[in-house]
Amino acid sequence: MATPRTILAIVGSYRKGGMIDGAVDEILRSAREAGAETRKIFLIDRKLSFCTNCRSCTQKAGSGHGLCVLDDDMESLFGELDRADAIVLGSPMNAGTVTAVMKLFIERLVATAYWPWGAAAPKSRNPEKTKKAVLVASSAAPAFLARFSGDIVKRLKTAAGMLGASIIGTLFIGLAAQHQHQELSERTIKKARLLGQKLATA
Ligand SMILES: Cc1cc2nc3c(=O)[nH]c(=O)nc-3n(C[C@H](O)[C@H](O)[C@H](O)COP(=O)(O)O)c2cc1C
Repeated sequence: MATPRTILAIVGSYRKGGMIDGAVDEILRSAREAGAETRKIFLIDRKLSFCTNCRSCTQKAGSGHGLCVLDDDMESLFGELDRADAIVLGSPMNAGTVTAVMKLFIERLVATAYWPWGAAAPKSRNPEKTKKAVLVASSAAPAFLARFSGDIVKRLKTAAGMLGASIIGTLFIGLAAQHQHQELSERTIKKARLLGQKLATA
C-alpha cells in the first residue's frame, strides 16, 4: 500500500473558527477523505521571535534551511514542513497584506536562502519544487478588489516557493467579514473540497 501523503496547514489567522480556519478545515477534511494525513498549525500558538537580521542562517551553502540562532519554535516548524509532501498556507488580508504573524513566519523563511555576506541577493536552497501548495486568503473587500489592491497572494506564493512548493490552487474568500460569525458559502466549501482532493492526489 502506498504511504499516505502528509499535508501540513500553516494558518496565519488570529481567529480560531474564523473564515480561514473553516476553509482550511474543509480542505484538510477532503484531503483526509482522499487518503491523506493532515495536520494544522496556528502560528499564534507557536513561540516565534522576530528575525534579528544576523544572517547566521544564510551563511552556509546547502539544501533545506540554515540553522537560526534564535531559540524558539521555528526549527520544529521547519522539521514539520520538511516532513510534509504538501502544504496549505492561509491568511486573512490585514492592512492590504498577510497578517503580522504570517509575515513574521515568512521573514523567518530567510533561512531557506543561501545569502553569504557580500552577495547582492539570496539564492534559494530549494530551487526544485518537490512539494505542492494551496494558498488560502480572505478579505472584507470583494475578492477582485482585494486581489487588485493588496499583495497577499504574492506574499503567500513567495513563501510557498521558499519552501520548495509549487502552487496547485488558490482559494480567495472575498466579503469575508459581513457578519461577526460568518459561515462559509456553499461555493467556497465546494472549491475548498476540490483543492483538498487535488492536494491529496496531485
Ligand atoms: C486589523 C485588520 C485589518 C484588516 N485589513 C483589511 C484590508 O486591508 N482589506 C480587507 O479587505 N479586509 C481587511 N480586514 C478584514 C479581514 O481580512 C477579515 O475579517 C478576514 O479575512 C476574516 O478572516 P478570519 O475569519 O480568519 O479572521 C482587516 C481585519 C483586521 C482585523
